[in-house]
Amino acid sequence: MDLIRLAYASKRTISLNYDTVKQLIDTARINNKAEDVTGILVNFGPIFFQVLEGPCINVNRIFQRISRDERHEQIQVVYCREIGQRYFPDWSMRSVNLSNDSDQLTKYYLTEKEGFHPHLASHFIIELVARYTKA
Ligand SMILES: Cc1cc2nc3c(=O)[nH]c(=O)nc-3n(C[C@H](O)[C@H](O)[C@H](O)COP(=O)(O)O)c2cc1C
Repeated sequence: MDLIRLAYASKRTISLNYDTVKQLIDTARINNKAEDVTGILVNFGPIFFQVLEGPCINVNRIFQRISRDERHEQIQVVYCREIGQRYFPDWSMRSVNLSNDSDQLTKYYLTEKEGFHPHLASHFIIELVARYTKA
């Protein structure tokens, strides 16, 4: 069925509160369900990190919408592979706030060098996904 998993990181341009997160997740759940896409949306510090899983064409369609969204910027794909099975089959979009780990996590993304380097965090991303798969 050519399932893929795509993960990206971005920097948010909006302030996050209960309403802004709820609005994002509500839309995501409706659209993703219609596209058979599942995943997880993590936020910590100024960063969004999202995993999208599903049929290749559908994931791309959803990702194109997300890419055009002005609520975030500097979107960088850090992972995109064909998969045998999903990590998040039961979640059309799960929201996770990692603000408790925020300082530790943010350093992986916003290095001492100027700029935004999410690819430096690929090892961390795998651990994160594993942690939430078991939860
Ligand atoms: C960080 C972030 C994650 C998002 N995740 C999804 C998602 O998983 N699925 C989705 O349909 N829209 C998601 N959205 C919302 C889309 O960007 C877009 O607003 C929505 O799909 C409506 O698209 P449309 O205006 O083209 O109809 C996300 C937006 C942001 C900023």
